[in-house]
Amino acid sequence: MELFNENSKLAIVIHKDHTLLPVINRLGIKLGFGDLTIKELCIKEGIDTTFFMEIINVFHDENYFSEKKLRDFSVTIVIDYLQKTHRYYLDYVIPEQERLIDLFLLNCINDCKENELIRKFYNKFKEEFVSHLQFEETLVFPYILALNDAIQNPAKKSIFFGQFPDFTIKGFEEEHGNMDEKMFDLKNIIIKYLPPNYDLNIGNSLLTNLFMFEKDMNNHSRIEDKILTPKVIQLEKMIKKDE
Ligand SMILES: [Fe+2]
Ligand SMILES: [Fe+2]
Repeated sequence: MELFNENSKLAIVIHKDHTLLPVINRLGIKLGFGDLTIKELCIKEGIDTTFFMEIINVFHDENYFSEKKLRDFSVTIVIDYLQKTHRYYLDYVIPEQERLIDLFLLNCINDCKENELIRKFYNKFKEEFVSHLQFEETLVFPYILALNDAIQNPAKKSIFFGQFPDFTIKGFEEEHGNMDEKMFDLKNIIIKYLPPNYDLNIGNSLLTNLFMFEKDMNNHSRIEDKILTPKVIQLEKMIKKDE
């Protein structure tokens, strides 16, 4: 698959892969950019061009994952991007999925009891997903930022150890697998098992939304597991060595 480079015009990039739209938004770019290249836009908006390139290429091509390059970025820039992604999920994706599920069930004719399964499965997924995001926002990310800060300013070390006496990043990525499975099951219920007594176009919109979200979520987890976690393990070793 063709990878993009910083001299690519962003408009052409979007024509080639429109699934990048939410990604460029959370990296700080809004539409209406004319013929500017990625490099020109990043300079204009004060965005790190290399980080922008890595994130869009990782998203665009599942097989592209330059762990080495991505691990060179500071944890603060990675966490900032991950937090913006969380906001996008909570403020837009979940309400939109709920709206589509309501519409899907509202437009069902005859016996719709089985179709209610969708809401049940979705709620289970949502509960786990939202509590996972809260866990990252309230514990994991503050822990990583404090750890990073303590390494850069040794005077802050005792505060860090006081705040997080026992926490380590180990085991953090295990939760991602469960959420992926739940999302896969949800799609499969519609594809394989529900009686098609609903509006097919609304069903397709819901499924398309779930597929897009699944891609986004997998990508997000991949960055947390393959970039953030190894970086944090490195930082944990550093702080222990200097203890
Ligand atoms: Fe996350
Ligand atoms: Fe996560």
